[in-house]
Amino acid sequence: MSKKRLQGFRAAFIHYAGVAHHSDEIAGQLRYLPDGLLLIADGKVVSLAPWTGREDVPEGCVFTDYQGRLIMPGFIDTHIHYPQTEMIAAYGEQLLEWLEQYTFPVESKYGDSEYASAMAAFFIRQLFSHGTTTALVFASVHPESVDALFREAQKYAMRIIAGKVMMDRHVPAALQEDPAESARQTRELIERWHGKGRLGYAITPRFVPTSSPALMEQAGALRREYPDVWMQTHLSENLREIEWVSELYPEHDSYLGVYDHYRLTGKRSVFAHCIHLQDQEWTCLQQTGSSVAFCPSSNLFLGSGLFKLSAAKARKIPVGIGTDVGAGTSFSLLRTLGDAYKVQQLQSYKLNACEAFYHSTLGGAHALDLDNVIGNFAPGKEADFIVVDLKATPLQKLRCAGSQDITDQLFVLMTLGDERNITHTWVNGECVWAQGETQENDHA
Ligand code: GUN
Ligand code: ZN
Repeated sequence: MSKKRLQGFRAAFIHYAGVAHHSDEIAGQLRYLPDGLLLIADGKVVSLAPWTGREDVPEGCVFTDYQGRLIMPGFIDTHIHYPQTEMIAAYGEQLLEWLEQYTFPVESKYGDSEYASAMAAFFIRQLFSHGTTTALVFASVHPESVDALFREAQKYAMRIIAGKVMMDRHVPAALQEDPAESARQTRELIERWHGKGRLGYAITPRFVPTSSPALMEQAGALRREYPDVWMQTHLSENLREIEWVSELYPEHDSYLGVYDHYRLTGKRSVFAHCIHLQDQEWTCLQQTGSSVAFCPSSNLFLGSGLFKLSAAKARKIPVGIGTDVGAGTSFSLLRTLGDAYKVQQLQSYKLNACEAFYHSTLGGAHALDLDNVIGNFAPGKEADFIVVDLKATPLQKLRCAGSQDITDQLFVLMTLGDERNITHTWVNGECVWAQGETQENDHA
């Protein structure tokens, strides 16, 4: 048997010991080590302990000294569209017109494998440079777009979940599918990719307005056929969208009721946005064990509305954070947490830093039902982590001067921070990105 490759890292550390929901429970799970030693072997965490001296570093261990930096679990982006990378910052429209004018034309390019591969490489480099190590990703309708993304993620042994969009109405003809063919292609992709290394597949009906009952039937049947596959979609983002759903499916009493009818709710089902939910829909999310992706920068950019984080918490519904690029305006989970804070301020909910970083790490892993493998530094977890400079800019230095309180420093990080704070990104025990190093893929 080959000898285990041991690596050690000295730095300050934060992570969360276990899953929690309410703010004070989350605070109870925060672990902060001002000076610690993380040991990993063959891409898995062995231990995290306070630094007591160099003698704790085992013989033969490859040692990296990140003193003065903070290491935390890699960010988990629970909602993002990779074919929308190139159309981020599209001016002036709310959801339905934004989709028509900007999104559909761009997504129609992703049937070209070569193009999709180049953009997948750019996309994954963007994730890494912003400190994101796992994402739940929408590709386009084209199976080629999914193949391109998974092939790229595989190069880094990155844990990523993605799926081909399913849609069969109210879209341009070039993107419109036949429901049976959409299901056939989805099945083929699941067989090809799901569970291969760290890759996972998500059945991806775009949203109810682009889904006929026949397509919903197909998606539901796939879910039953492959119970450990994920499901991702959009829910209750925009008021006109909701109105449209009630016209298209008058026999259902709510937007979520449509998904639930086709058995698309449940564990490993991740609903993005969930802004304008009725009480019964919150209850349905709770009772089915479904998860929510909170996408504050997108919700502000498209003028969609304010997500009620407190309502999700009251029902212990798992909540992850999504950038929702390209409706979201940054790949940075730090910037997105800054927006999350402001969205909650507008509703008089004080989103503290402890809670915010929970939702972007272990809480996101929980929302994806992956908290048994990623999200913190418990022994055996996959070693996905980021190295953070808390004082990357003159303003951050000024603001943090004299601050000894880690929660204050983390609040500054989520309010003023961005990709400049991420100095290194490690995936599966390998450094996949270091600040200052550029690669061909950084330029699309
Ligand atoms: N609803 C349906 N499709 C989309 C999309 O691509 N982005 C967002 N934000 N909402 C959607
Ligand atoms: Zn989206």
